[in-house]
Amino acid sequence: HGLVRRTLLRKMRDGDLSAQLMFDREMIADPFPHYDVLREQGRLVDNGLVLNTAHHDIATAVLRSPDFGVVGGPSGQAPAALRFAVRAAGRGPVGPVEPPSMLAVDPPDHTRFRKLVTRAFSARAVAALRSRTEEVAEELLDEMAARGHNADLVADYASLLPATVIAEMLGAPVEMRRQFLEWGAGGAASLDTGLPYREFRRSEQQLEAMQNWMLGHFDHIRRHPADTILSALVHAHAEEGRLTEDEVASIAILLLAAGFETTVNLIGNGAALLDGHPEQLALLRAEPGRWGNAVEEILRHDSPVQRTGRFAGRDTEVAGEHVRTGQVVLVLLGGANRDPAVFTDPGRFDITRENADDHLAFSSGIHYCLGAALAKMEGEVALRALFDRFPDLTLNGPPHRRPTRVLRGYDAMPVRLSSAT
Ligand code: HEM
Repeated sequence: HGLVRRTLLRKMRDGDLSAQLMFDREMIADPFPHYDVLREQGRLVDNGLVLNTAHHDIATAVLRSPDFGVVGGPSGQAPAALRFAVRAAGRGPVGPVEPPSMLAVDPPDHTRFRKLVTRAFSARAVAALRSRTEEVAEELLDEMAARGHNADLVADYASLLPATVIAEMLGAPVEMRRQFLEWGAGGAASLDTGLPYREFRRSEQQLEAMQNWMLGHFDHIRRHPADTILSALVHAHAEEGRLTEDEVASIAILLLAAGFETTVNLIGNGAALLDGHPEQLALLRAEPGRWGNAVEEILRHDSPVQRTGRFAGRDTEVAGEHVRTGQVVLVLLGGANRDPAVFTDPGRFDITRENADDHLAFSSGIHYCLGAALAKMEGEVALRALFDRFPDLTLNGPPHRRPTRVLRGYDAMPVRLSSAT
């Protein structure tokens, strides 16, 4: 493995673009021109480790194909290359992107896990959460306004809103939301390849801390069962023997972390984009019915999850391209969402774009984001409430990009709320 890594690092220094996209931190700020070049280089660009694609049709075909598997693989055996391409290295048993997490296993396990929680995230369940989400938004905006003219939009709002909503939804203590955010951010960093060892260890420790807390919380739930998602999961383990404790912990941690680690980026990216396009914000004020499409365009233009991976369980063909058994395809979702074959003038942010929702920001196929409806509802509620309350909101200097490659967002966004507050 060290050899593969050294080879890729050499390729990166020699100017191999796909290797650079895996390792070069300089590319994080603006990967889009590089995706464009890669797309020109080929439909599946082989860098000796993985096949890269920034083409929308291939990405869709790979994600939907039953011939491809995820990290766990059809038999639970991930090729090392996929683990390596998607994230730094293996860890303990219950990280959010390691087996038995639902993101990292294929059917039939995947089907079994997903079925347990599907209903809680349905469009109907999410619609019932909307008014509570609006209340959370107003509470956070009140607190921000009470503190004065200046705020950090990420720390004070974009992160706390989804963290509060998912904690309440799952039945995790809301007063721990800042701790969840800290653990989650640490864990999310480890999704990236090429992480310096010390950072990788730190992120691993944070995930371990979250896991330990979750297992302790399960004990609490056993003594005090309630009508919550976590309680139902623990029950499925204890009463029905449908899940092992590792599986329960893995699902719980994935739901908690996925509940805010990605939506924070949608809200932050959206705030920055709308701040930079006042004419589109004005259009939304005049015609609020456009908010739904605006959220799709934010997801397309600045996708919070930029990449995922799949490997071929057998020799196969996708969108006219041959892939051999065991080969890994790195699907650059953020690049597919800028594919000019699907989106006219793809670099332009345009909330009136008619096919904005053809994006792959939530992936596709059986792993299509379980929380997509929730995330879109939260994004719309959060951004609408923000710009309604503070119509003169302006950035107080450039926002700071989080230094992560898989997740795209900001970790700090100083703003001036408005002259009136
Ligand atoms: C899966 C993106 C919010 C829960 C995924 C995947 C993507 C994604 C790309 C699939 C990855 C792959 O195919 O390998 C996003 C984005 C979000 C968001 C961009 C916000 C803007 C949420 C929320 C939840 C959530 C709020 C709530 C708990 C999940 C779960 C999976 C998943 C459980 C695994 C589904 C499976 O493997 O079947 N998400 N997500 N996500 N997401 Fe989200």
